[in-house]
Amino acid sequence: MDPLHLRHAATSLVIGFDNGEAEVIHWGADLGAVLPDLGILVEPVPHSAIDARVPAGLLPQASSSWRGRPALRGQRIVDGVAGYDFSVRLRVTEVQVKGNAAIIVQADPDAGVTVSTDIALHDGGLLELRHTLTNHGSSPYQLDELATVLPVAPAAVELLDLTGRWCRENHPQRRPLHQGTWVRSGRHGRTGHDSSLLLAAGTEGFGNRHGKVWATHLAWSGDHEQFADTLADGRTMVGGSELLGSSEVILAPGASYTTPALFAAYSDRGLDGISESFYSWFRSRPQHVNNSKPRPVVLNTWEAVYFDHNLESLIGLAQSAADLGVERFVLDDGWFRGRRDDRAGLGDWYVDEDLWPNGLAPLIEAVTSRGMEFGLWVEPEMVNLDSEVARAHPDWIVSPSALSHKDGGRLPLEWRNQHIIDLVNPEAWQYIFGQIDALLRDNNISYLKWDQNRDLTEHGHAGRPSVHAQTLAAYRLFDELKKAHPAVEIESCSSGGARVDLGILERTDRIWASDCNDALERQSIQRWTGLVVPPELVGSHIGPTTSHTTARTHDLSFRAITALFGHFGMEWDIRQVSGAEREELKRFIGLYKEHRGLLHTGRMVRADVGDPSLMLHGAVGTSVEEGTTAALFALVSTRTSFAEQPGRIAIPGLVPDRHYRVEAIFPGPADADYAHTFTQIQPPAWLAEGAQASGRFLAEVGLPMPILNPEHAILLKFSNA
Ligand code: GLA
Repeated sequence: MDPLHLRHAATSLVIGFDNGEAEVIHWGADLGAVLPDLGILVEPVPHSAIDARVPAGLLPQASSSWRGRPALRGQRIVDGVAGYDFSVRLRVTEVQVKGNAAIIVQADPDAGVTVSTDIALHDGGLLELRHTLTNHGSSPYQLDELATVLPVAPAAVELLDLTGRWCRENHPQRRPLHQGTWVRSGRHGRTGHDSSLLLAAGTEGFGNRHGKVWATHLAWSGDHEQFADTLADGRTMVGGSELLGSSEVILAPGASYTTPALFAAYSDRGLDGISESFYSWFRSRPQHVNNSKPRPVVLNTWEAVYFDHNLESLIGLAQSAADLGVERFVLDDGWFRGRRDDRAGLGDWYVDEDLWPNGLAPLIEAVTSRGMEFGLWVEPEMVNLDSEVARAHPDWIVSPSALSHKDGGRLPLEWRNQHIIDLVNPEAWQYIFGQIDALLRDNNISYLKWDQNRDLTEHGHAGRPSVHAQTLAAYRLFDELKKAHPAVEIESCSSGGARVDLGILERTDRIWASDCNDALERQSIQRWTGLVVPPELVGSHIGPTTSHTTARTHDLSFRAITALFGHFGMEWDIRQVSGAEREELKRFIGLYKEHRGLLHTGRMVRADVGDPSLMLHGAVGTSVEEGTTAALFALVSTRTSFAEQPGRIAIPGLVPDRHYRVEAIFPGPADADYAHTFTQIQPPAWLAEGAQASGRFLAEVGLPMPILNPEHAILLKFSNA
């Protein structure tokens, strides 16, 4: 059978079938249309090994002598005894190709197992792979793991992945690739603050804009593993799988299991090339929210008023927001029955009659009559024991026990005083759907901030593990509510960024990257979240002057320049902001509105700056008209530098032969924050009047930059000259 060759956007995927199974021959750079006879790739066979070459299967299997992590682990249960058909021998039975997509079916008729693999190479070079396993046997088949993996070239010698915690999501860690398996396990029942958004293997020292990189992401919001497996024979596979609980998936005869999608990107231009593939995929989806309307300026009430809900005061906040040019007002936690703090009320999705005797209508009216959309916070998957629903339906609370809580079943430990509603129970699912559906029907709500504030620990249904089923049931809740209310946008929040993955982003329109609104932390959180998720989908708010989560104090310009490179908003009691600071805030809102088209469609550029105290990033657009903004960059100082002055900083990513006019647009000499921003007797010569240079000059020579104080930033605008 001829090899399968998918090519797109400088990426090739070649799958051969010579061995009878599907083998990934190449994933990486485009190889051109004509392939040689792949027989040239047959490797030598070493001593003291199986007497044949070992293919890097699309599903690596022990029956081909794969001694690394197998893609499939499972067993047949015959007459109540498990362990049969533990080793399969999958052979290709069918290959269908349609454009840049293919379906490869491999089967082992003796073991009664068939695996069908869907592969698509999207515009922009992003590869999407998922397997479906079907039990064709006559007895149940227990699936322990089905992983989706890809080989990376031997040139990849370093691994970068991300980790984090509450208020410090998506921080990178790097290590050399040694023999052995590097596994990132997520047992949170949700994606997790520490989950690796991306696992990237690359050539030595790969950076933002240099080096070859092979990167994967697992699109799943439940338990999962992502790994890099380097074998003694020198080969490395990268990939991921859903982490299934004990006997969680037992397939009856004829039943199937489908893996989460593995997304994979290759770049020969460092991490920026990886981001480009992901962004291009996001932006080409029909439901991509930025394609229908610009992302509105948000005011979220959380860090402004917390649980202190009061109609008059909230109308004051709405008025203040409208005066500043806010376009969406989001009422956060605290509006529903009994919810005076975080100890009660979750699950009772009724407007609190004491606080809101006339419902939410008066506030919604105050918001919408001022030209803003109204958004509402909900946390549908959760329940407090102190709630009407928990008292009426204790059997709806998730428990590891076969007995329901009603009959004395043990509950998992509390987390923020809350438990989980068992969405696998159809009645509970229907109740939650009905409540949220009614809220959306009865009120003029354009937006839901959908929160999820605890790990799913000891998560069971009827005494058996059920994170898998719960994750699918939660997905179905999103999907059905979206179907019933297609115009309502949904944000995925999970104590900040604990549910950021392409599974949840398939059904939501933005993520809340972190509960930390400290601009310094946000610089890093947003940079690394932005490795995969484009800025128009990453909520980014100006928080209070002194951060509530770190107690650091930052000038408004630093907070605002940070928030500008995401879906911009505020989470701050802006009624208290007056005088020059209010004028500055207004200017930033104006700047965001003026440039959001560019910021949310442009190519994201992150420079490799030698000085570790500086970050330079920007959005580069495609416009060529004279005078129009072609790019916006921020130069950010995160700490003091080892150098007296930054010297010339190269600005990459502009069009080499185009001429640009560059100017610093914030802060300028007239702005309140100007004096704090720099520490210099004299600024670089070009700063006062701006400068003109070609993209090539700016990338190769750069510009001498002003000396920034730590935790300050300047905004640079590049117009077509
Ligand atoms: C979580 C969210 C916050 C806020 C609170 C409300 O922590 O991440 O943004 O909505 O819940 O309780």
